[in-house]
Amino acid sequence: MADTAQLKIGDKTYDLPVIEGTEGEKAIDISKLRDQSGYVTLDIGYKNTGATKSAITFLDGEVGILKYRGYPIEQLAEKSTFVEVAYLLIYGDLPSAEQLKNFELEISRHTLVHEDMKKFFDGFPSGSHPMGQLSSLIGALAAFNPASLKQSLSAEEVNLEIIKLIAKMSTIVSWIYKKSLGHPVIYPRNQYDYVTNFMHMTFGQRTEEVEIDPVVVSAMNKLLILHADHEQNCSTSTVRIVGSSDANLYASISAGISALWGPLHGGANQAVIEMLQKIKEDGGDTDKWIAKAKDKNDPFRLMGFGHRVYKNFDPRAKIIKKACDDILEKLGINDETLEIAKKLEEVALHDPYFVERKLYPNVDFYSGIIYTALGFPTDMFTVLFALGRLPGWIAQWKEMKANKEPIGRPRQIYVGATDKNYTDIKNR
Ligand code: ACO
Repeated sequence: MADTAQLKIGDKTYDLPVIEGTEGEKAIDISKLRDQSGYVTLDIGYKNTGATKSAITFLDGEVGILKYRGYPIEQLAEKSTFVEVAYLLIYGDLPSAEQLKNFELEISRHTLVHEDMKKFFDGFPSGSHPMGQLSSLIGALAAFNPASLKQSLSAEEVNLEIIKLIAKMSTIVSWIYKKSLGHPVIYPRNQYDYVTNFMHMTFGQRTEEVEIDPVVVSAMNKLLILHADHEQNCSTSTVRIVGSSDANLYASISAGISALWGPLHGGANQAVIEMLQKIKEDGGDTDKWIAKAKDKNDPFRLMGFGHRVYKNFDPRAKIIKKACDDILEKLGINDETLEIAKKLEEVALHDPYFVERKLYPNVDFYSGIIYTALGFPTDMFTVLFALGRLPGWIAQWKEMKANKEPIGRPRQIYVGATDKNYTDIKNR
C-alpha cells in the first residue's frame, strides 16, 4: 500500500499520509491539509469522513460483518449476556468470572434513583414521549451527581459515574413505562441479574410476585447486545462531540439519546411497527406499499429498510429475524404484522429498485415485533434501543477522553450573501 497520497491543486502538489486500520480499512489523513494548502474538504453527511481512530467496533457494510472488540456479533448474541458485552465494550476485553461478578455487584449497588427524580414525572404531561423523558432524566442525573461535574475526575471517579449511569438507566427506563400507565414505580431487586431486574421493574407489581420468564430475559439480552454499539453513527458521534467539549458524561449521553430519537436512526423501530400496523389496517396489500416506497413523488419510505453503511445485509437483522420467529413460537403468539413484514422483505429483496440501491432490512425491521411480543408499547421501542446502546456510547465517550481528542468543530463552505449594508426598516 502506498504510504502517501498526492493531491494536486493548480500547480501545487501536497503529500497526504495514507493510514490503514487493523482490518485493512484505508484512509487519507487530511488533518494538516488546511494548514498546508488553505483548503478544507466538503463531505455533507460525513459519508466519506473518518472522525476518529477507534478500537471498539468494526463493521464491514459491504460483506455484513459486525464485531465488538474483535468478537463477532453472532457469537456474542448467542453466548453472552448484555452486562458481559457492556464490560467488553467499556473495558476492552471479555471479563474473567471474578471481574464479571464484581461488575455486576457494583452495578446492583447503584440501581436506586434519587427519590426527588420522581418529581419530574409530575411535570411531564401525560402521554409525553418516553424519549423526551429519558433524555431529560439522564441529563438531570448530572444535577443529582454534582461530583461528576468536577473537572479532571480520577479514573476511579469516572468509573463510578459509568457504573451509576448503567445502573440507573434501567431503573429510569422502567419508571418511564410505569408512570405512562399511571402505576406506582417498582423498586429494583438487586438479587436479580441486570436484565431480569429491568423486566421486574417494568412488568412487576407491588402487590404480588410476578415471575419473569427466562425466555423473555434471554430475548431481551439478545436485543440489547445487538444494539450495544455500532461504531460512528448519528447518536454516537453526538456523544463524542458533546463530550469533546468536556461536558459531563450524563450531558453527553443525554445528547446521544436525543440524536437517537429521529425516525431515520433509532426512532425507526417505532416507525416500522406503525407502518406494519397501517399496512395491516389498509388490508395488507404489500405490493401497494412497495410501489409507494418506490414512488419519488410519495414521501413514504419502507421503514426498517436501507442503511448508510450496510450495503449487503445487516448481520443484526439476520439474528433478530430468527430470534423473532423463536420468541413468537415459544410464547405461542401468532402475529399478523410478522407475516406482513416477511412478505414485504420477500418482495423488496427481489425488486430491482431495492436490489439496485442495495436496500436490505436493518436491525429495526424485526426488533419492534419482538418488543411487542414482550409486552412493550410502541413508543417505548426507541427507549429500549437507548438502553441497549448505552454501553457503546459510554465506551466511545471513554475512548475519546483517553485519546485526548480535541473539541469537535467542523468547518463549512459559506454560500450566503456577502457585503450587505444595513438599511433602515422604513426603507426595506
Ligand atoms: N425506502 C425507499 N427508498 C429508500 C429507502 C427506503 N427505506 N432508503 C433509501 N431509499 C432510496 C433513496 O430514496 C435513494 O434513492 P435515489 O438514489 O433514487 O434518490 C437511495 O435509496 C439512497 O438513499 P439515501 O437516503 O441517500 O441513503 P442514506 O445512506 O442517506 O440513508 C437511511 C440511509 C437513512 C437508513 C435510509 O435508508 C432510510 O431512510 N431508511 C428508512 C429509515 C430506517 O430504517 N432507519 C434506520 C436505520 S438503522 C439505525 O439507525 C439503527
